[in-house]
Amino acid sequence: MAKLTRLRGFQDQLGAEAEMLSLVEARAKEVARRYGLGEIRIPLMERIQLYERSTGETSDVVAKQMYIVKHAQESSAADTMVLRPEGTPGVVRAYIEAGLDRSDPEQRFFYCGPMLRYERPQKGRFRQFHQFGVEVFGRADPACDAELLVMIDDLRRELDLELDFEVNSLGCGECRLAFREALLAFGRAHLESLCADCHARLERNPLRIVDCKTDAALAEQAPKSIDYLCPDCRRHFDAVLDLLRYSGVAVTVNPRIVRGLDYYVRTTFEVSSRTLGAQNAIAAGGRYDGLVESLGGVPVPGIGFAIGLERLTMAMSPQDRHARAVAAAAGGHAKPPTARSDSRQAPFIDAAVLALGEEALPKAAALAREIRHSGLAVEFVSPARGLKAQLRRADRAGARFAVIIGEDELSRGVATLRDMTSGAQRDVQLEQAAQAVSAAAAES
Ligand code: HAM
Repeated sequence: MAKLTRLRGFQDQLGAEAEMLSLVEARAKEVARRYGLGEIRIPLMERIQLYERSTGETSDVVAKQMYIVKHAQESSAADTMVLRPEGTPGVVRAYIEAGLDRSDPEQRFFYCGPMLRYERPQKGRFRQFHQFGVEVFGRADPACDAELLVMIDDLRRELDLELDFEVNSLGCGECRLAFREALLAFGRAHLESLCADCHARLERNPLRIVDCKTDAALAEQAPKSIDYLCPDCRRHFDAVLDLLRYSGVAVTVNPRIVRGLDYYVRTTFEVSSRTLGAQNAIAAGGRYDGLVESLGGVPVPGIGFAIGLERLTMAMSPQDRHARAVAAAAGGHAKPPTARSDSRQAPFIDAAVLALGEEALPKAAALAREIRHSGLAVEFVSPARGLKAQLRRADRAGARFAVIIGEDELSRGVATLRDMTSGAQRDVQLEQAAQAVSAAAAES
């Protein structure tokens, strides 16, 4: 029988890898909480029209990367459903559907979860990946734009990463008219050099020329949106840059950050890591002031970004990743023993409880539970094996201490507390064994 394997571009995350994703997600949520954001959960599947009308029909995401879902009992074309390739359109739809654009327009949301895009898989690029996203509604002021970048910088600091921040302004609908004309003229003048994609969508979406990856040299010469900003957009952009300077977030203006999704106006940005290779964008976003209205709401400005969580963890050094996963695995209690630096999947734990013989079982099980109640991570090692095999398992599980209860210990009313790094052992009173483990864990 053919072996069942995961789909190309899809990943399993086991042990430390999964812990790592949970950890960065938790950190991002904590930072979001400090910025007054509330959680929003949206469906994994939406109508295709939602993305056609927001992300844009000429965007790669909609034109090439959608996973269309077929119902077993055939649904109508009007109901064509797709797996979400990004979170922004769904959040905007939910915001409008809840009537918030009318009743209480200023809203600040974060969300987290898998997104699906049929892309060519490579390092850092998957067909299913996880985003941590932020969407803020009802704020048109530049302080909001700057604040979102500062928020990403706060997360960057928490995770101790070096990242590059690049910003641009695409201008509003007004300045876009002149910019679009200039791009069209440029595109028509270089028709023969355009890649097949840019050629095909030149008339409908000339913006794509600017971030074309096929001919970077040509893209470099293309007109730049910042040269076409109206006075209001120029002021807005300058204010964003001033605020960022004031906040100590180093940013570079990069006119090629036009983004591949259609809804952006004014500020756009990308945050990247130099350690990742070609797929180096860790976070990206921008303003989408017309989107709520174009999806049927009243005109409310919006701005947001999304972080790719897999890429964020990939940007951390392997040692750091492992150490943090370990700490996260035990709710911050377990520390990785410095003596060992293997890359096993299992998280480290504080203590392993070993029972030798039938009689010791209930006492050992109760002790394991009691130690857990004090907040430590404990494995009750399978008692089906002898002492040596159980100790090997405790070591394999990364336990800092082993607590052993056998016949001899029972008869003396004690447990043996073994330091797994040094091998030192001592008796502790059975009644006080949980406290003794806690105290030892706190000391080490
Ligand atoms: P995006 O640039 O398409 O923007 O994706 C944001 C981030 O998701 C990227 O910078 C990257 O870290 C990650 N990402 C995207 N595609 C992949 C992939 N195939 N594999 C791994 N990671 C990936 C958006 O999705 C917008 N919704 C962001 C936004 C929110 N704009 C306003 N609000």
